[in-house]
Amino acid sequence: MLTIRTIDELRRAVAGWRAAGEAVAFVPTMGNLHSGHLALVARAREEAPRVVVSVFVNPTQFGPNEDFARYPRTEAEDAEKLEAAGADVLFLPSVEEMYPGGAEATTFVEVPGISDILCGEFRPGHFRGVATVVARLFNIVQPDVAVFGEKDYQQLLVIRRMVRDLAFPVRVIGAPTVREDDGLAKSSRNQYLAPEERELATRIHATLQAAAEGLRAGRDIAALEREGAESLERAGFRPDYFAIRRAEDLDEPAPGDRELVVLVAARLGGTRLIDNLRVTL
Ligand code: PAF
Repeated sequence: MLTIRTIDELRRAVAGWRAAGEAVAFVPTMGNLHSGHLALVARAREEAPRVVVSVFVNPTQFGPNEDFARYPRTEAEDAEKLEAAGADVLFLPSVEEMYPGGAEATTFVEVPGISDILCGEFRPGHFRGVATVVARLFNIVQPDVAVFGEKDYQQLLVIRRMVRDLAFPVRVIGAPTVREDDGLAKSSRNQYLAPEERELATRIHATLQAAAEGLRAGRDIAALEREGAESLERAGFRPDYFAIRRAEDLDEPAPGDRELVVLVAARLGGTRLIDNLRVTL
């Protein structure tokens, strides 16, 4: 596996593969890799003979009071894991390489509507930062396929819409959430949790499952949303939202919609956790 830090060098590597007729799959990450990320790499390997993984903690998707500074950076461990997982290139750009005019002054990509609800309401500018960095990474890597985790369900839909609206020639694949044995979705932020918080965190998945069961039993959506949020609050969380939406576009469900998703974002101490569960009625 090659570790590449500059756009020029990455483009040369990709051009060589292209000249040999090899397709390229891409997995963008912020590093601190766990088995959830490695499942994305495995999926990428099924899709194309060449796999590029980027590790870049993207400043433009963090709010002023968020965890950009303390976000775990584990370059050497990440490189080892990616080598073992069979990636061809680890792309590890600096902030200056990614934002040559400065992160504040860069050209931004806005995906309206879907970026402003749910997580977007509580993290203003977050999806603008995500769309911007992913657009730039797509232009740098020029992949045929890109793989994103379904754990960040709203992010996946924002990217799909950006790809549609800007006609990126990239096929976007969503890969299933990888969970701990007790149901907690794998996340780099889980390591912020104190031991007692880590135990409580299993409630998130349990609450999603309870809402999914309620939906299957034909119960009222607003009541299920209220109960989900209340049960997390009683357990000591501060939920940002507990919402049941259409899986396709995160709009409010209309009668007869069968493909739904239950989504949650909740704070436990200083840690913000998100998760979701798809439900087909
Ligand atoms: O999901 C992530 O880790 C990030 O939001 C992404 C897609 C790598 C963009 O920085």
